Amino acid sequence: MQDPLRFHRKAPPCAVVIYGANGDLTKRKLMPALYRLAYEGRLAPGFAVIGVSRTAMTDDEFRDRMHDSVRKFLEDSPFDEELWQSFAQGLSYIAGDVGDPASYAELGKHLAGISEARKTEDNVLFYLSTQPSQYAEIAEGLAASGLNKGQGWRRIVIEKPFGHDLDSARVLQGRLQKCFNESEIYRIDHYLGKETVQNIMAFRFGNGIFEPLWNRTYIDHVQITAAESIGVEGRGAYYQEAGALRDMIQNHLLQVMATVAMEPASSFTSDAVRDERAKLLRAIRIMRPDQVADNAVAGQYGPGRSGSERVGGFLGEKGVSPDSQTNTYAAVTFLVDNWRWAGVPFYIRTGKALPKRVSEIAIQFRTAPLAMFRKATAGAETVPNMLILRIQPEEGISLKFVSKRPGSGMQLRPVSMDFNYGSSFGERSPSAYETLLLDAISGDATLYTRQDMVEASWTAVQPIMDYWATQKFNFPNYAAGTWGPEAADEMLARWGHTWRKP
Ligand code: BG6
Repeated sequence: MQDPLRFHRKAPPCAVVIYGANGDLTKRKLMPALYRLAYEGRLAPGFAVIGVSRTAMTDDEFRDRMHDSVRKFLEDSPFDEELWQSFAQGLSYIAGDVGDPASYAELGKHLAGISEARKTEDNVLFYLSTQPSQYAEIAEGLAASGLNKGQGWRRIVIEKPFGHDLDSARVLQGRLQKCFNESEIYRIDHYLGKETVQNIMAFRFGNGIFEPLWNRTYIDHVQITAAESIGVEGRGAYYQEAGALRDMIQNHLLQVMATVAMEPASSFTSDAVRDERAKLLRAIRIMRPDQVADNAVAGQYGPGRSGSERVGGFLGEKGVSPDSQTNTYAAVTFLVDNWRWAGVPFYIRTGKALPKRVSEIAIQFRTAPLAMFRKATAGAETVPNMLILRIQPEEGISLKFVSKRPGSGMQLRPVSMDFNYGSSFGERSPSAYETLLLDAISGDATLYTRQDMVEASWTAVQPIMDYWATQKFNFPNYAAGTWGPEAADEMLARWGHTWRKP
């Protein structure tokens, strides 16, 4: 039963089967998150994790590897050896090829034994973190061996990317829905699990003073930035196929935009909230091919600097072909065709090898109607107020406004009113994967994406992908360590705006 307030939850007994158990995500994110949930006392005593991948490994070898990864990647929280020993008793491993029916039969036997031994009540969460091309095959393999049904519940978590365009997302869905019901399919978007992204809803709908201003009458435009200072770090082969638009905008950043711009839901239940996000995504104006050049900018980094170090360009990365046309930077102007947002541009940008790692939403309000203090602001029109929702790092919220400088004259200066998560709460925030795993085990899909949302966001980026596929870009067009190509500044200049330098 879903806990509508999501407070103080404890997971029901269950087995989590991780496909891709030898991969990076399992090591860096999934296992540390599960361990941390155990540390917090959120997991039921009847809890088990079964790792599946092709590499041959014994249970003990798997436990040892996971021990080392959890120690290494457990950010900002202590590692308790004694707790690990009891957690590790619930870990086991099966080497199997996803194309081999025998591997599902073996998993079935293993799960039956685990249900008996660990009292998991035959509840099973399958987590697919393999190559995306294997998702449908695994779901079909599970269904063919009857593992998609049982005495307890079944759920399947699908990592991103869900398809590589609109058509492939539909094909994937067509195959998945033959194996699992929609209510059993959990499409993960880890940005929705971030505390600061969840806090956008608290900020907007838990306070009375912001919502009346949250519309085209008072808001001039919105800038959503997700900048990363690192390059593609050994993921060149994957990234070359994806690019920034697919990797970050189609999923994470459109979900963030939907959270910023959606209408209030009538209740905080998963379908009510997701209905509103989906409606917003469907209201995004779809670009015609001849509008793409003015509203979307692609970039690729060349050699440059990261801090004081010299770094190479994308084309020199392992797994990247020397004439790659992949975008490592993308900026898009989206418009939303509804009454609240008509005419308000939403600028979204993301990129690798930018000057710093920062994700934020900047909401720029319209200026005061009368420039009463023109002289006081050195001839400029009144400075617009800006609200910054900082997703990471330095999680928090700032409101920028002008204030009178102390003194006998009337001089104004921009100042800031700041809320900082760390100092206000003084406690650690759960990682996105902790939140989302606990949600999936508890049967709460509020922060997972639904098929209609996935299709709406592919629909919004599809014309850009199609147009870019016909172009020959003059890449690289920005140096590593800079804020992206000039064309992104020109895109905003056409609206009379400039990017904020976070
Ligand atoms: C992933 C992308 O989904 O999100 C990566 O594939 C990106 O390319 C990452 O680096 C960013 O996530 P976060 O949580 O570090 O902002």
